[in-house]
Amino acid sequence: MILVTGGAGFIGSNFILDWLTQSDEAVLNLDLLTYAGNLENLSSLQDDPRHVFVKGDIGDTKLVSELLDKHKPRAVINFAAESHVDRSIHGPEDFIQTNVVGTFHLLESARAYWAELDEEAKSDFRFLHVSTDEVYGTLGNSDPAFTEATPYAPNSPYSASKAASDHLVRAYHHTYGLPVLTTNCSNNYGPYHFPEKLIPLCLLNAMAGKPLPIYGDGQQVRDWLFVKDHCGAIRRVLAEGKLGETYNVGGWNEKANLNVVNTLCEILDELKPREDGLSYKAQITFVKDRPGHDRRYAIDATKIERDLGWKPQETFETGIRKTVIWYMENQSWVANVVSGEYRQWLNKQYS
Ligand code: NAD
Ligand code: DAU
Repeated sequence: MILVTGGAGFIGSNFILDWLTQSDEAVLNLDLLTYAGNLENLSSLQDDPRHVFVKGDIGDTKLVSELLDKHKPRAVINFAAESHVDRSIHGPEDFIQTNVVGTFHLLESARAYWAELDEEAKSDFRFLHVSTDEVYGTLGNSDPAFTEATPYAPNSPYSASKAASDHLVRAYHHTYGLPVLTTNCSNNYGPYHFPEKLIPLCLLNAMAGKPLPIYGDGQQVRDWLFVKDHCGAIRRVLAEGKLGETYNVGGWNEKANLNVVNTLCEILDELKPREDGLSYKAQITFVKDRPGHDRRYAIDATKIERDLGWKPQETFETGIRKTVIWYMENQSWVANVVSGEYRQWLNKQYS
């Protein structure tokens, strides 16, 4: 089996669902179920013996060591993290705790487990760390895209905590020989995306007749990747990645935020027109910018395509349409997610 951490979150749950459509290899899912963790994402696996869920912290060395000894996974895939930049600005401590200290403890547990494996299991074992393009900092409009050789220059408490965890993962390979792999991916979107992030927030607000908040001038650029494509890239790196290497993962889809939100509005105008006949674009509202807001991210995903033969299947146009339709068809998931904690967050961030 494989151990997936953070498997009740957005990408982790997509990864598990995708994994189990491709393979019968069981998944042990360790997730603390923070505000971002939602077992409803995995409700289709409720009676599936291939999915074993454990509520717990990656930083709980005793628990993780027991799980490793009992289930003997051949790989750990570490998705668990605090992931929202705006929350890291309001309260960085949880980010240091989970992303830095938690990853450190997880590495220690994995190292101790790996050291005791027999030679064959030892050489087959993998620790795959899921990271972000934000560790590279920000780009000007005409700068070349981030490659794996771009120096780290994180600008937010979130990206600094992810950068720290990447460095620890790297060090555990160089110092102890732990067989690690790291992926640095661009912005994901798709089903089960928690509606604190730009795309699901604007989709839900649009359908609820609320303002669509655009930070600053809306000309910040992100490179968007459909989440299923990210899952495929992780599977490929796990199977064929070279130990100790990092792989940039991206969609070759650079878009300014305002363009993204305009596209969402146009798809909604077509699929679910407003009763007053106006475009959803009328709900776009420019709000105060994010402090330290990175202007542009762009991923050069040449290495993973050249060395591992991976490239994205979805264009932004096909992926975003699927996403809009998913949110329209999954209103009960949305209703359950929009809890008290979520409303408190919206008040804190947008009031
Ligand atoms: P998410 O916030 O939706 O999910 C994170 C999950 O981790 C949640 O289920 C949460 O309960 C769990 N978790 C948090 N702290 C934990 C802990 N201490 N122990 C165990 N579980 C814990 O995040 P996501 O968007 O799915 O991102 C997953 C990973 O991918 C993160 O490491 C993130 O940095 C990285 N990433 C995300 C994106 C993106 O666009 N969302 C892009 C690139 C990389
Ligand atoms: O690049 C990968 C990163 O993408 C991941 O590492 C992070 O975990 C993930 O959250 C995401 O970070 P971003 O900060 O880019 O995503 P977010 O959806 O929060 O914001 C996308 C862009 O939209 C960003 O430029 C900020 C802007 N924005 C966001 C919100 C929530 C707005 O203009 N208005 C908003 O209300």
